[in-house]
Amino acid sequence: MTRDAATTDWTAYYEGGRGRTARDLVRHGAKARTGPGHAVDLGCGDGAETAWLLGNGWQVTAIDRTPEAMPLVRRNATAALGREPGPRLTTVVADLAVAPIPTADLILASASLPFVPKHAFEGMWRRIRAALAEGGVLAVNLFGVNDSWAHPETGIANMTFHDRPGAEALFDGLEMVELTEVTYDGPSGTGPKHWHRFDVIARG
Ligand SMILES: C[S@@+](CC[C@H](N)C(=O)[O-])C[C@H]1O[C@@H](n2cnc3c(N)ncnc32)[C@H](O)[C@@H]1O
Repeated sequence: MTRDAATTDWTAYYEGGRGRTARDLVRHGAKARTGPGHAVDLGCGDGAETAWLLGNGWQVTAIDRTPEAMPLVRRNATAALGREPGPRLTTVVADLAVAPIPTADLILASASLPFVPKHAFEGMWRRIRAALAEGGVLAVNLFGVNDSWAHPETGIANMTFHDRPGAEALFDGLEMVELTEVTYDGPSGTGPKHWHRFDVIARG
């Protein structure tokens, strides 16, 4: 393994996604609730999903370990609203492996949780579950064990992967709204790869 999730520089990834639209995960997650409330965007990156949420009436706490993400989050939020977001947006630079997670009606994690190492995943997941408000929605991507990044020759160190039973077990006690297992060969920030992903929407 030549890359390590703990030391990845995400700035080129943000640049490559400049102007991108918000991912389906956030739209599906928001639809699983009756109306807007407080959302937490874990590993928010450039904040396209945070901006979409703000534009649709949510208050958002956007958390990411990469400080360079935050000016982009604010820029995208301001563009979506046509003005500065003010107190409706809180940005936090923190490592999800240890960060406190505020109580939320929607917890979104788009392509971010798998970059937290295995030894810290369980503790982080406990904090995520504890932060979910009554009736709140979890909308998350997990990466599967057949993903190229899970393999020694093509992989990235310090990531967390799940098989299907392991992924399903994380949502015990929640109402499963949607669990889609996605597998395809396609491009990535590190070149072409095999993608194996679980896209999950679950309600508390
Ligand atoms: C693939 S990008 C996804 C960004 C955005 N959510 C999206 O869907 O495009 C992964 C993001 O997770 C963040 N990240 C990775 N490991 C993290 C950690 N341990 N704590 C907080 N953020 C982390 C990175 O800084 C990066 O912005």
